Amino acid sequence: MPIPKQEYARRRKSLMAQMEPNSIAVLPAAPVYIRNRDAEYIYRQDSDFQYLTGFPEPEAVAVLMPGREHGEYILFCREKDKERELWDGYRAGQDGAVVEYGADDAFPINDIDDILPGLIEGRERVYYAMGANQDFDRRLTNWINVIRSKARQGAQPPNEFVALDHLLHDMRLYKSAAELKVMQAAAQISAQAHIRAMQICRPGLYEYQLEAELQHEFMRNGSRAPAYASIVAAGRNACILHYTENTSQIRDGDLILIDAGCELDCYASDITRTFPASGRFSPEQRAIYDIVLEAQEAAFAAIAPGRHWNEAHEATVQVITAGLVRLGLLKGEVDELIASEAYRAFYMHRAGHWLGMDVHDVGDYRVGGEWRVLEPGMVMTVEPGIYVAPDNEDVPRKWRGIGVRIEDDVVVTRSGCEILTDGVPKQADEIEALMAAARARDEALA
Ligand code: GLY
Ligand code: MN
Ligand code: MN
Repeated sequence: MPIPKQEYARRRKSLMAQMEPNSIAVLPAAPVYIRNRDAEYIYRQDSDFQYLTGFPEPEAVAVLMPGREHGEYILFCREKDKERELWDGYRAGQDGAVVEYGADDAFPINDIDDILPGLIEGRERVYYAMGANQDFDRRLTNWINVIRSKARQGAQPPNEFVALDHLLHDMRLYKSAAELKVMQAAAQISAQAHIRAMQICRPGLYEYQLEAELQHEFMRNGSRAPAYASIVAAGRNACILHYTENTSQIRDGDLILIDAGCELDCYASDITRTFPASGRFSPEQRAIYDIVLEAQEAAFAAIAPGRHWNEAHEATVQVITAGLVRLGLLKGEVDELIASEAYRAFYMHRAGHWLGMDVHDVGDYRVGGEWRVLEPGMVMTVEPGIYVAPDNEDVPRKWRGIGVRIEDDVVVTRSGCEILTDGVPKQADEIEALMAAARARDEALA
């Protein structure tokens, strides 16, 4: 386990220290999802559950009971079963839950109806993420009702429900040294995958063939899945923000926008690069590209402890709007175009998001009505873009259908920020040089 066992124990302790006295926290594992008929999606543990337990199996429920004499951390999980394990694979069982995963106590998941109401009974507050898992919401309600039905015999049902996710998501926002190590490794694999796609790209290939190269690089380095559906968008497809069909043929003269990142040990990476299929940017492509790159640089300069969340976004809006005016794609005063949000015809998304176990990670962006102030250990993406819609008749034809985004992952440090994904080039000249070198090598081998 790349996140050490002691760290899971520390997280549980830290959460329990924030819980009110006489309370209990309940978290279910992620369900198994069916893809079609009896074929399942590859199992991915729920991020909150994983964060507190490191336990990789479905059909499990973690219970935290601060101050409980017989142990504060209880895990319900599947029993060992020779027959099922022959078909479906290893199960830790109750002994494994204790020995391998640090549970103080473990019970078969099939006994949860009999045991959990007894654990909840007498506790004043239940910490639970209501609404995230409707099946489990219903089951928890039933267990509470079991206790209520016994009130006349002296059973004490809980009186308060508290949003567990709020506490947990604030913890998840601050990455530990061990988490940063995993995220750095994920970032490096993804950077290598983007380089590979640039090296292999040729007009005539299909978008999915570049996707296959990304996937190959992810998996051969230990990633089991991409952190989100990879976007490989040639030409005007780059103007569709969440394009994931990846079925078009790449043409000479296209820009290729690839937004892809691997997941490693339940941590995401998220990189976008945009490069010319031919290996050379056209003047228009390069003009737009250089503005996006300048916007990203301006955003990095606005990320440091004490700066607020929105400063990086504001920096990108400033540079992009001024750049679009310089190119004649927007007309007017920069300040007015920002105030009227005219830039949104070309730049319609935000400059980034928190990054962690989920690609769009948890954590509040505003606190007490103000943008959140950045602190060391927070990880975010920086991803400005310019997209000239193919049907934008307000601009000369030569600009239409150009879509550029450049995205990197950064961690806030004590003095500023560090880029986790700088293993993949992004200066236009560097990209052209990398692609030219790959072509020269291929020709020499041919
Ligand atoms: N790939 C999703 C994003 O960049 O937010
Ligand atoms: Mn992305
Ligand atoms: Mn992103």
